[in-house]
Amino acid sequence: MRGYIISLLAAASVSRAATLPVQEPKVEKRAVGDWASAYSKANTALGKLSISDKISIVTGTGWQAGNCVGNTKAVGSIGYPSLCLQDGPLGVRYVNGVTAFPAGVQAAATWDIDLIRERGSFLGAEAKQLGIHVQLGPVAGPLGKFATGGRNWEGFSPDPYLTGIAMAETIEGMQEAGVQACAKHFILNEQEKNRDTMSSSQTPDRVLHELYLWPFADAVKANVASFMCSYNKINGTYACENGNIMNKILKEELGFQGYVMSDWNAQHTTTGSANAGMDMTMPGSDFNKKNVLWGPALQSAVQGGQVAQSRLDDMAKRILAAWYLVGQDKGYPSASFNSWKIGTQNVQGNHKTNARAIARDGIVLLKNTGGALPLQKPKSLAVIGSDAVVAPKGANACADRGCNDGTLAMGWGSGTAEFPYLIAPLDAIKSQAQKDGTTVTTSTNDNTGQGASAAQNAEYALVFINADSGEGYITVEKNAGDRNDLNPWHNGNDLVKAVAAVNKKTIVVIHSVGPLILEPYIDNENVVAVVWAGLPGQESGNGLADILYGSTSPSGKLPYTIAKQASDYGTNVAGGDDNSWDLFIDYRKFDQNKITPRFEFGFGLSYTNFTYSDISITGTPTSGPATGAKAPGGSKDLWDTVATVTAKITNSGGVAGAEVPQLYIGLPSSSPQSPPKQLRGFDKLKLEAGASGTATFALRRRDLSYWDSGRQQWVVPTGDFTVSVGASSRDIRLTGKITV
Ligand code: NOJ
Repeated sequence: MRGYIISLLAAASVSRAATLPVQEPKVEKRAVGDWASAYSKANTALGKLSISDKISIVTGTGWQAGNCVGNTKAVGSIGYPSLCLQDGPLGVRYVNGVTAFPAGVQAAATWDIDLIRERGSFLGAEAKQLGIHVQLGPVAGPLGKFATGGRNWEGFSPDPYLTGIAMAETIEGMQEAGVQACAKHFILNEQEKNRDTMSSSQTPDRVLHELYLWPFADAVKANVASFMCSYNKINGTYACENGNIMNKILKEELGFQGYVMSDWNAQHTTTGSANAGMDMTMPGSDFNKKNVLWGPALQSAVQGGQVAQSRLDDMAKRILAAWYLVGQDKGYPSASFNSWKIGTQNVQGNHKTNARAIARDGIVLLKNTGGALPLQKPKSLAVIGSDAVVAPKGANACADRGCNDGTLAMGWGSGTAEFPYLIAPLDAIKSQAQKDGTTVTTSTNDNTGQGASAAQNAEYALVFINADSGEGYITVEKNAGDRNDLNPWHNGNDLVKAVAAVNKKTIVVIHSVGPLILEPYIDNENVVAVVWAGLPGQESGNGLADILYGSTSPSGKLPYTIAKQASDYGTNVAGGDDNSWDLFIDYRKFDQNKITPRFEFGFGLSYTNFTYSDISITGTPTSGPATGAKAPGGSKDLWDTVATVTAKITNSGGVAGAEVPQLYIGLPSSSPQSPPKQLRGFDKLKLEAGASGTATFALRRRDLSYWDSGRQQWVVPTGDFTVSVGASSRDIRLTGKITV
């Protein structure tokens, strides 16, 4: 049972697995130790180290000097290995034979903490088998300030609560499997454009805490082993040189016990970074393999007194403690692959069950006129668009997935993996069509004329469109990391319109890194269904077919808002210095400015219906600041449950399905101006037709607090808190209040 959300399921009538059973993680689970005993071992080890041993523990071996994307030297006297640090957040990068899981944003769209945790534990298990000590993920920065942000898909959601829970579950899953997780990129790394020079100016402290820091606090609370400081500047100072961010906020305020590594070449000075709280430099040199800011330079700085000996000891101790924390001192394998010469090692085990379940349960059904879906043995289908098939050159043809050819299942950049295989939508549809006796015609390019002619005589036309983005070191079709706009690529809107002009049962399937503007066709009456299939990873087609044919009812909910026009988000990727940081991103902005979105945050249709009843609220939270003892994550009492809300959810439709009831809080009028509603709880109930279950939302002290910058504390205000429980951020079914 988890501290923050507890599902009380009405046992007999509830099935936790309506269709594909969720497999228990088949990975060796080790108990993650505690920091106190990890530190006591680290202290003992430290006593045996020379200054040059310590320097080699904190300094990477240099760019491409070792098997992994980051490496440090071994220290034989304490049995400490050459540390292997490897990307990334959806699978191990630069090895064939790993699972290419759905992206973080797709995992978030399931709102299913069991699946998210299992994904984390499978990611960790694969990394461990390959001898990776530190897996460079998960991602909470970017959070998603900009709808077009190139790397948003590597993380989870622009909502900090949803991202925070996904961070904690992923980290715990990974670290139980034995690998050290790395929470990245810390912090305010919201765009790719000018990421090395970009600065936030004057990000208000409250905004920093309530939005961008929030999910990183969950990571610290989950005992994450490491953090990665980001490329950008924060209020004018580079993240990896920023004492306010690393020393004061991360280490003092949040009580982080692990170590901070630089993003690759994000360090700028020898002593500035050391004294600001950075603990490890990666990869240890610049990309020309010339400039080394630590190594001998750090040793001289320590010997010259510009960096205290105790600071160097602290760096080494933090790194060793994290290594002991996850038990890597006991028979951990060494790196058995080479990033710079990609080979094959099959470590997938049964992990595709999780990949398929997330591909499927992260699908959000946006429109379904007259129950067009699920398909019931149609006579004929047309499948249209290059996004329906694997690219002719193969799914891995472009390095780091830096092209958008064929079906889209992950973005591009360092947060990618090699596909072991990629089940395309057309493959999965064809195999079902064969069983159903359905004739399939195809047009697998994006030519509007050919698409329309394939569609015109088919009972249903399925049109596939997509939008891609990634890390800024690769430019794809003129998109330099961040997306240029919120339109589908390859003239997707025209393709949909051309098909819908000739086929009255047009179904649009979208693979996308983030929101798109759907206005060109969403109200077209010939477009009878719109299926948001996200970024599904290797099991793309199988997960999609499960939904299209109704073996599972859709249960994904949008992890971001889909606007009617791009300007409604109110944020644009900045040129260099961005001073537009406020509390109102994504749905917080739409609610605050009373803008009607096309599909709101948390929205998603099902093949069944759910009714909400019997809200009950218990607990007597007290007002004032959190004052508990400091522990990883901040004051301990921030994490105490102070109120509990329950609601009865009934599947009142005709088929089994799963619902994600969501709880939003509005702060009382005594608090400073705040978003009208903020997500502070969710649950996922799998219910047979006619069955009921109880959703339980445990509200922690932090869930009812705002950050008081003057006091530098989280404070629960006095007055009436509004409690809204609903099927989305705008489809509120039950309300109540908590008076403090
Ligand atoms: C830079 C990216 O920002 C980071 O996410 C990644 O882990 C490193 N490169 C190493 O590849």
